Amino acid sequence: MFRPMMPYIWVPMQSLFDPDGGMEALGAGAVLLRGFAQAHDRALLAAIEAVTAKAPFRHMTTPGGFEMSVAMTNCGAAGWITDRRSYRYTADDPESGKPWPAMPKLFLKLADGAADAAGFPGFVPDACLINRYEPGTRLSPHQDRDEADYGHPIVSVSLGLPAAFQFGGPKRADPMKKVALGHGDVVVWGGPSRLAHHGVLTLKSGEHPMTGRRRFNLTLRKAL
Ligand code: SIN
Ligand code: FE2
Repeated sequence: MFRPMMPYIWVPMQSLFDPDGGMEALGAGAVLLRGFAQAHDRALLAAIEAVTAKAPFRHMTTPGGFEMSVAMTNCGAAGWITDRRSYRYTADDPESGKPWPAMPKLFLKLADGAADAAGFPGFVPDACLINRYEPGTRLSPHQDRDEADYGHPIVSVSLGLPAAFQFGGPKRADPMKKVALGHGDVVVWGGPSRLAHHGVLTLKSGEHPMTGRRRFNLTLRKAL
């Protein structure tokens, strides 16, 4: 898909985001919106940079004692962490002792727009986990279940290098689909798919014009 370079022009909400590559169902209540975030890639990457200047990426440890290969940080009123104690949300970044950086307005708009397009109107996330993948890193299948109310969906935004995303069902044994997620793709899962298992296969080597040898993923959640 070719997009000409354009100066940044403010446009009304409905046309801010654009699933121009179409919509694909991944399950009941789960959709992939191809290219939905692409028009805002530069602004999204700049926002990630601003967040990480205050709360740098770090490799967290699981309660089982394993260091995660994916580097993580957060913004919003709550941030997801793992350490030897548990998986949980915290108001403060444990590295700095300060509150997580504020959620950029663009993240809120994108989350609301994508959730709305997927059939979940009025989504207002209060937490955004930011993942950074490098070639060789992976995220094993898991459920997002540390949030207070599963009535809200999860909105996931991919930027940079492509990844093979696995998406299954609420049971660990449910079959998993494998879908390629590229720069600007957004996945939303909620309703009957809210507790679907999902993961990211080992990132392949590559070079992306905007992110180099990296993939970034935002998962926007209503945690509290
Ligand atoms: C996640 O499950 O937190 C991230 C999924 C992804 O990186 O696509
Ligand atoms: Fe997840």
